[in-house]
Amino acid sequence: MTKKDFIYEGKAKRLYTTEDPNYVIVEYKDSFTAFNGQKKATMSGKGVLNNKISSKLFQMLADNGVESHFVEQVDDTNQIVKRVQIVPLEVIVRNITTGSLCKRLGVEEGKVLPRPLFEMCYKDDELGDPFIIEDHALLFGWATEEELDKIKSISLRVNEILKDYFAKKGVVLVDFKLEFGKDMQGNLILADEISPDTCRFWDSSTGDHLDKDRFRKDLGDVLGAYEEIWKRISA
Ligand code: C5P
Repeated sequence: MTKKDFIYEGKAKRLYTTEDPNYVIVEYKDSFTAFNGQKKATMSGKGVLNNKISSKLFQMLADNGVESHFVEQVDDTNQIVKRVQIVPLEVIVRNITTGSLCKRLGVEEGKVLPRPLFEMCYKDDELGDPFIIEDHALLFGWATEEELDKIKSISLRVNEILKDYFAKKGVVLVDFKLEFGKDMQGNLILADEISPDTCRFWDSSTGDHLDKDRFRKDLGDVLGAYEEIWKRISA
């Protein structure tokens, strides 16, 4: 399959058609954005790392029975994925308290939750992806009850698989964001990406942040952290 026409450019990726209408090519960019696009930077090599990491994690999830849009990595920055219509929800699963959860509720940082916390936001850049509850998604038609049940159970399953996988690599999975889409046949599947842009990873022994928080909080050596994640999962 080859890249044909440009479709869309997001903050971290570009989409292109292929000769098959069921598939598109995702190109991972070198750009970083945070705080809903207010903070921006470009770092050469970031797209390659996120493409490799995301491809590897989607493949690992497929090996564990979790279907996603991922088909195959084509080269350094490109991967073939199934064409989906994105459900306008950002799903967040948290194992440890930090980030917007602590800001929003004033709860203590770094507390291990007794069970995973499942949250949803409405995917809308102009509104800053506001936090919503299930009823908003249902009443405004963003997802059906059946889809929400499926989204929740897949998300919690992904958490279990990723948490165990990363624990074996000396990495704590703190939290992450997932997106879902409907393929051309109407099947709901995992979509977007899974990378240090969309997950919080803490080194199990040092507590070092190995994710986009290094960019958000100006902690330095951002790409070094992404490389460290790649090193651990490709070993
Ligand atoms: O900022 P917050 O604490 O809500 O982020 C929770 C998790 O979701 C983090 O892993 C973060 O990287 C991810 N996230 C994301 N895209 C967003 C918001 C959060 O990937 N728009």
